[in-house]
Amino acid sequence: MSNANDDGFLLDFLNPALMSSPQGEYAKARESGAVCRTAHTGMPVISRYEDVVWGLRHPEIFSSEMEEQMQLGTERPMIPQQVDPPVQTQFRRILDPCFSRKRMAALEPEIRRHAAELIEAVVDAGECDFNPAFAIPLPCTAFLHLMGLPEEELDLFLRLKDGILRPHQQIGTFDMEAGQAHRKKIGKEIYAYFEDVIAARRRNPGDDMVSFLLQTEIDGQRLTDHEILDVSFLLILAGLDTVTATLGCNMAFLASNPDLRRRLVEDADRIPAAMEELLRWETPVTGVPRLCVQDTEVGGMPIRKGEMVTFLLGAANTDGGEFPDADHVDFAREANRHLSFGAGPHRCLGSHLARMEIRVALEEWHRRIPEYRIREGETPLYSPGIREVQYLPLVWERAP
Ligand code: HEM
Repeated sequence: MSNANDDGFLLDFLNPALMSSPQGEYAKARESGAVCRTAHTGMPVISRYEDVVWGLRHPEIFSSEMEEQMQLGTERPMIPQQVDPPVQTQFRRILDPCFSRKRMAALEPEIRRHAAELIEAVVDAGECDFNPAFAIPLPCTAFLHLMGLPEEELDLFLRLKDGILRPHQQIGTFDMEAGQAHRKKIGKEIYAYFEDVIAARRRNPGDDMVSFLLQTEIDGQRLTDHEILDVSFLLILAGLDTVTATLGCNMAFLASNPDLRRRLVEDADRIPAAMEELLRWETPVTGVPRLCVQDTEVGGMPIRKGEMVTFLLGAANTDGGEFPDADHVDFAREANRHLSFGAGPHRCLGSHLARMEIRVALEEWHRRIPEYRIREGETPLYSPGIREVQYLPLVWERAP
C-alpha cells in the first residue's frame, strides 16, 4: 500500500451515504494513503488504526485547545476535553474515580427501572419512534442521577442540550449568526442553573458529582466555581447525544439483522460482547478533531502547524490491520480494541456509564420486545459527525 494520496481521494463528510453505511468510504480513505483530505475544506484526515492511536497519544503535536471548539455557547474551554495535558491530566486524576465502573454500577437499578418504564409505555402500541420514546430520555435520566438532580428536570435538560447542539430546531432558521446568539443565550442558562446547584450543594452537600467536585483539591487548592461549571457543561454535551446515537445505531442494525438479534434474545450473556462489536462497527462518534501545533508527518505525509486535523475513529475501527475480518460483524470477536471511546489522554471519561446504559437498554428491550423491525418503506437517516439515527420507526407484533 502506498503512503501517498496519489489517487486524490477526498472524503465527503456531507455525503449522506457516508453516514448511513460509511464503512466503504472508510476503506477508501485508508487505502488512499496515511492522510487524505476532506472534499469541502481540504482538512487532513487520519484513518489508519496505528496512526490514529499514535496521533491521539501525542497531544503536544495534536492539541485539543482549539478556537473552533469555543462555538458551543461556552465562555471558557470545557474541562477536560478542551484543555491539554498536564492540566487535563490533573482533572482526569480527580474525575476518573467518579466515573469508575463500580460507581456507575450503583446507578444501574435506577437506569434499569427507567428503561423498563419507557418500554412498558410503548409495548402495547406495537410501534414507536425510537428516539423520543427511548433513546433520548434514557441517557438524560442517567445524567440527572449522576448529578443528583430530580428526574422532573428531564425536559429542561433536553431543551438546554438541544439549544446548544441543534439551535436551528429551536429558532427555526439555519442562520449561523442567529444560531450562535441562541447558543450563547442557552449557555448562560446552563451556567446560571449550575451556579444555583453549586450554591445549594455548598449549603447541603450530598452524594453527587457537584458536591464531590466542591470538596476536591488539585495541588492543595479547591476547584473554583468556574472549573466546576466548565466540567458540568461538558458532561451535558458529551454524555447525552452520544448514548442516544449509539442506541439508535444499535437498534437500526439489530432490527435489520434478525439472525444476529435472535442470538442476543436466546442468550442475554452475549449482549456485552455484541455491544462492543456494534460500537466498533457502527462507531457512533465517527471522528475527533485536533489542532496540529507543530509541523509533523504521518506515514511520511506532512501535516503543517496550524492545520485542523480529523482522526477518523470509524475508519480505524474497520482497519483489517488491527481487526481480522474487519468487515464482518462478529458478536464473538475475541480481541476488540476498538477506538469508539477515543484513545490517549482524552479517552472517554464516561465509557463505564455509557456501557452500562447501553447494556441495560439492550437487555430490557430484548426481554420485552424480542421481535421487531423497521417499518416497511422507511429508511433510517443518519446525521453527520455523530451518527444519530434521526428517525427510526420500529414496529412489532402486539401481544394478543
Ligand atoms: C456510547 C457513548 C459514548 C461515546 C461513543 C463517547 C465517545 C467519546 C470520545 C470518542 C471521546 C474522545 C474525544 C476526544 O478525543 O476529543 C470522548 C470523550 C469524553 N466523553 Fe464520551 N462518549 C460516550 C458517552 C459518554 C458519557 C455517558 C459521558 C459522561 C456522562 C461522556 C463524557 C466524556 C467526557 C467528559 C469526555 C472528555 C474526556 C477528556 O477530554 O479527557 N461520554 N467520548
